[in-house]
Amino acid sequence: MKIIAFPGSPRINGNSDLLLTETLKAIKEEGHIITLYRPYKMNFSPCISCNCCSKTGICVINDDMTEVYNSIREADRFIISSPVYFFSLPAGLKALIDRCQCLWVEKYLLKKKIQGGPYGRKGLLILVSALKKENIFKCCDLTVTAFLNSISVPKHNILTCEGIDEKGEIINHPDLLKDACEAGKKLVSYQ
Ligand SMILES: Cc1cc2nc3c(=O)[nH]c(=O)nc-3n(C[C@H](O)[C@H](O)[C@H](O)COP(=O)(O)O)c2cc1C
Repeated sequence: MKIIAFPGSPRINGNSDLLLTETLKAIKEEGHIITLYRPYKMNFSPCISCNCCSKTGICVINDDMTEVYNSIREADRFIISSPVYFFSLPAGLKALIDRCQCLWVEKYLLKKKIQGGPYGRKGLLILVSALKKENIFKCCDLTVTAFLNSISVPKHNILTCEGIDEKGEIINHPDLLKDACEAGKKLVSYQ
């Protein structure tokens, strides 16, 4: 299977990064092809709402997102791992999602759904927050659900970890790391 992951944190080896590493460990053992797109290491413009994609489904901005669009069309599995920032997603990851407006157009206005390969298309959302608070993950999940629906990924599982703040603190929670590993195995299972 082709798997793409979007590590949403600017903090390399931070909590969501370490959870993603555990998830990918399980996947690597099975020999799948994994591509990572780190918004904070990429060079791309935010969506400028030029509306050029509204008739074609093609974004006219030529930058690092061009490769992402192709990968999104071809992938079978999608992982988004991210911290919560102000109850929402970090700006870099949100900007990447916004740039997928052209894929939203393609699906909902041009009625061209991405068909997907023999394994179907499935997602996994991993979220980390410092606070333990009701609805702390709600906004992130709504945004990611809208994103995944737009790129024809109808189903995703969610792993949430709350009360985790310091860089790398997640390492003191082997149960959560194990959950991330299990989530990876489940993601590439054929059911
Ligand atoms: C700009 C910023 C905004 C944040 N906003 C929230 C928030 O609204 N709620 C929360 O619980 N944690 C918030 N946090 C804390 C992070 O979610 C937390 O530190 C998380 O463990 C970071 O994950 P990372 O190591 O993968 O970057 C925020 C952190 C930053 C830097």
